[in-house]
Amino acid sequence: MARRRRIYEGKAKVMYEGPEPGTLVQYFKDDATAFNNQKKGTITGKGVLNNRISEYLMLRLAEIGIPTHFVRRLNMREQLVRQVEIIPVEVVVRNIVAGSLAKRFGMEEGQALPRSIIEYYYKKDELGDPMISEEHITAFGWATPQDLDDILNLSLRINDFLLGLFLGVGLKLVDFKLEFGRLWENEEMRIVLADEISPDNCRLWDAKTNEKMDKDRFRRDLGNVAEAYQEVARRLGILPEGLPEAGPGDATGPKTMQ
Ligand code: TMP
Repeated sequence: MARRRRIYEGKAKVMYEGPEPGTLVQYFKDDATAFNNQKKGTITGKGVLNNRISEYLMLRLAEIGIPTHFVRRLNMREQLVRQVEIIPVEVVVRNIVAGSLAKRFGMEEGQALPRSIIEYYYKKDELGDPMISEEHITAFGWATPQDLDDILNLSLRINDFLLGLFLGVGLKLVDFKLEFGRLWENEEMRIVLADEISPDNCRLWDAKTNEKMDKDRFRRDLGNVAEAYQEVARRLGILPEGLPEAGPGDATGPKTMQ
């Protein structure tokens, strides 16, 4: 069988050459990693769920004028996206203290922040994605001050919108990570939202119980990882048909390794 050309393989996705120039096929794997690849596992059905969840969120964001790389979903595990030049900066937006912020400052998880905090990390697995400031980004030429201005404004708009969207389905958007890319159209360059938005790169807590509904279930071995992703999709009203329900055979939860 003729295989498509693989352009890039990351920890959770594979990018293939797309059907037309300037497009790529983004394939969502069930693989999960945490702590910069030190913990590895498989979350059965995750790729299908993240494909759907990310499609839904990117479409809703496009409706409010956020430019994204998303074109359309192709099948259960693949979506067509515009080929962009990924800016090697991971943008983390935080609304509630959790994760590395709690650790860094010795704070309890769960405290609402007085205002949303934006952090930048250099996207470089070999270095464990070190935290950086705007100074590093502009000095090393990863993005211009104008690019950064666009990235910051887009990130805050995305946060405002997603906070409301998730709260509407009973979920607190604690924090999340975004990636942006440069898209050229004729001579014009635009910064667009790329990668994915899913429970892999968001913290989502149940609004009533604070139960974790995201990849922290995998990172912290809390069990029922796939079930939590499924519940997020169900609340968003997009649970894919034909996805095997966690049945009696799965009573011990998803197959996570290590
Ligand atoms: P952190 O608290 O570990 O810094 O994570 C903040 C948010 O960013 C959280 O929602 C998970 C997400 N994230 C990623 O998507 N990829 C990463 O490599 C890391 C470290 C965090």
